[in-house]
Amino acid sequence: MEIEQDGQVGAPILLKQGAEARVFESTFVGRRSVVKERFSKKYRHPSLDSKLTLKRLNAEARCMTKARRLGVCTPVLYAVDPVLHSLTFEYVVGPAVKDVFLEFGLHGINEEQMDNIARQIGDAIAKIHDGGLIHGDLTTSNMLLRSGNNQLVLIDFGLSFTSTLPEDKAVDLYVLERALLSMHSSCGNVMDRILAAYRKSSKQWSATLNKLAQVRQRGRKRTMVG
Ligand SMILES: Nc1ncnc2c1ncn2[C@@H]1O[C@H](COP(=O)(O)OP(=O)(O)O)[C@@H](O)[C@H]1O
Ligand SMILES: [Mg+2]
Repeated sequence: MEIEQDGQVGAPILLKQGAEARVFESTFVGRRSVVKERFSKKYRHPSLDSKLTLKRLNAEARCMTKARRLGVCTPVLYAVDPVLHSLTFEYVVGPAVKDVFLEFGLHGINEEQMDNIARQIGDAIAKIHDGGLIHGDLTTSNMLLRSGNNQLVLIDFGLSFTSTLPEDKAVDLYVLERALLSMHSSCGNVMDRILAAYRKSSKQWSATLNKLAQVRQRGRKRTMVG
């Protein structure tokens, strides 16, 4: 795919083939990097498709940058390529929260580590929400723990958008709650710990958590009546 500065050809390694994007590990001016390439949906009109893909690509880059400005760790954005429809990021070395939690499920919970991770997750979501940013896909696969300092890094802003509505924030939290219940049921009350941290960090916790109670009752869909 590309020739590195030292003349070696860095063959990209496929990390994930999703429905909307392919993610590769690669090298960017000598640095280990991740390339996320959005591809077209065959059923859409080509020029409309290209416009939509580009819009999403730019939105993802903008939302990630916004999260960073709000004090949440995200990978450094190295490049945006509007022709290839790709974003190039810093490669974050470390496991996904998903793998750490699955490990807890298999070999028992490390309470100290669990507390630390839950606190970082609650803090990070509070920061983006208070800044009017909704992540849109809060799952434990989209959270990495940087090796060395165990710092939480939020990734995958592909479904992110800006909103200050308690409703949107509540649905963001609800998506995470469902993901934790289905994937990490053996991790006990991790969502409670996350929400405790959220409550401490967010100035607008009250409106959001009230909405969350309503969203839990009806599911994530908005009611069509009324
Ligand atoms: N900056 C990064 N550093 C290390 N791994 C990454 C990085 N970005 C993405 N990944 C890996 O690639 C996977 C897919 O990337 P993601 O942005 O979540 O795409 P998708 O929208 O297809 O889920 C992630 O779950 C993670 O394992
Ligand atoms: Mg993802």
